[in-house]
Amino acid sequence: MFVSENLGVNEKGNLTVGGIDTVDLAAQYGTPLYVMDEQVVRNACRRFKESIDKYYGGKGLVCYASKAFSCLEMCRIIASEGIGLDVVSLGELYTAVKSGFDCSKIGFHGNNKTPEELEYAIEVGVGHIVVDNISELFMLEEIAKAKNAKPSIMFRIKPGIDAHTHDFVKTGQIDSKFGFALETGEAFEAVKQAVACENVELSGLHCHIGSQIFDIAPFEEAARVMLDFIAKIKDELGYTVKELNLGGGFGIKYLNEHDPAPFETYMERVSKVVKSECERLGIEQPAILIEPGRSIAAPAGITLYTVGARKEIPNIRTYVSIDGGMCDNPRYILYGSEYEAVVANKASEERTDRVTIAGRCCESGDLIGENMPLQYAESGDIIAVCATGAYNYSMSSNYNRVQKPAVVFINNGESRIAVKRETLDDIIRNDI
Ligand code: LLP
Repeated sequence: MFVSENLGVNEKGNLTVGGIDTVDLAAQYGTPLYVMDEQVVRNACRRFKESIDKYYGGKGLVCYASKAFSCLEMCRIIASEGIGLDVVSLGELYTAVKSGFDCSKIGFHGNNKTPEELEYAIEVGVGHIVVDNISELFMLEEIAKAKNAKPSIMFRIKPGIDAHTHDFVKTGQIDSKFGFALETGEAFEAVKQAVACENVELSGLHCHIGSQIFDIAPFEEAARVMLDFIAKIKDELGYTVKELNLGGGFGIKYLNEHDPAPFETYMERVSKVVKSECERLGIEQPAILIEPGRSIAAPAGITLYTVGARKEIPNIRTYVSIDGGMCDNPRYILYGSEYEAVVANKASEERTDRVTIAGRCCESGDLIGENMPLQYAESGDIIAVCATGAYNYSMSSNYNRVQKPAVVFINNGESRIAVKRETLDDIIRNDI
């Protein structure tokens, strides 16, 4: 009935998340409110970890892509599942460090890292730095030398694969700001340079073809291309690349008609390609790393809002306005993303209405969605937008000086605040 398995309806006809009444959560914590179900996060981590164990004989690591959703509590949960972390900025790395995360399990990304970021990454001892371009390689070599360190690095490679997803979240094609191109020989030249560097250790190669991808074939193709490159490096330079990071990007169900393959199926199919290609090429199988973000965080989250105005424009559309919008969920205005919505206090009723859910910002495009099936919503109702655990809180803003919502985690029928709601004083805290 709902996109996420942890959602249900109780005897009052209210929507429940992890067995907890969402109308009660809205009353207790206020709206807008992000709610994250800890068990859903944990189950996804376990399923990925078990897949690495099953299909790669445990030779690999799952690194949760914290850009999807990061806060201290999330890092603590991820750490307790024994998996690693992918961070992409000083802020994400700092959050992980402050949560007590084991830095040796952290991969540090970014297409334009600053010297300050690289220094900090070396100081805290991240497991690997994913180097994006040649100037970064030389900058890192210098910084590492000055610090008398030898960090492990991976090279981010553009495997030249066009995944079928939104243009803004494609990353594997040659026209991308991320990584070294294979086709042009740029990647091979960079590997030669890295092998000659004294203060970095090239341990692996990385690729990430995009996000919210449903097809398995592009992942298989990426694995093939990357292993071919590893074989070329072995043949021509005699250098063994020990790790292959295949990135994230596994699609999730935002609408009932979405039907992504379970990620075990991705893992099984890609692992077959990895095994057969390694045999064919006569190379040793590298350790396999993956970086799922959305598939761990998104299904765990919902956002609760209170309905304000309802505006019916005859023969045109009905706007249902909520107390949040693009500030807490900019994915519609950015990508035209689709979501399932439910009137939480009428969840047992049919969704007979079709509405545009509008945010409260001074911006016409500030919508959660158009033509959305919904129960009849009026002032005071609570609307739940489902599968918002990834790229909502992490992409939230203070546009219009709107305060960011609180994040509540739920587990075993109980709820707790993980991130406090911003106050008006937070809004002016850096103003002088
Ligand atoms: N690894 C790398 C290097 C990445 O760039 C990303 C996402 C991931 C892993 C995680 O991908 P995931 O498993 O979450 O698909 N803001 C967009 C998504 C941008 C994804 C950026 N990179 C959205 O809201 O759809």
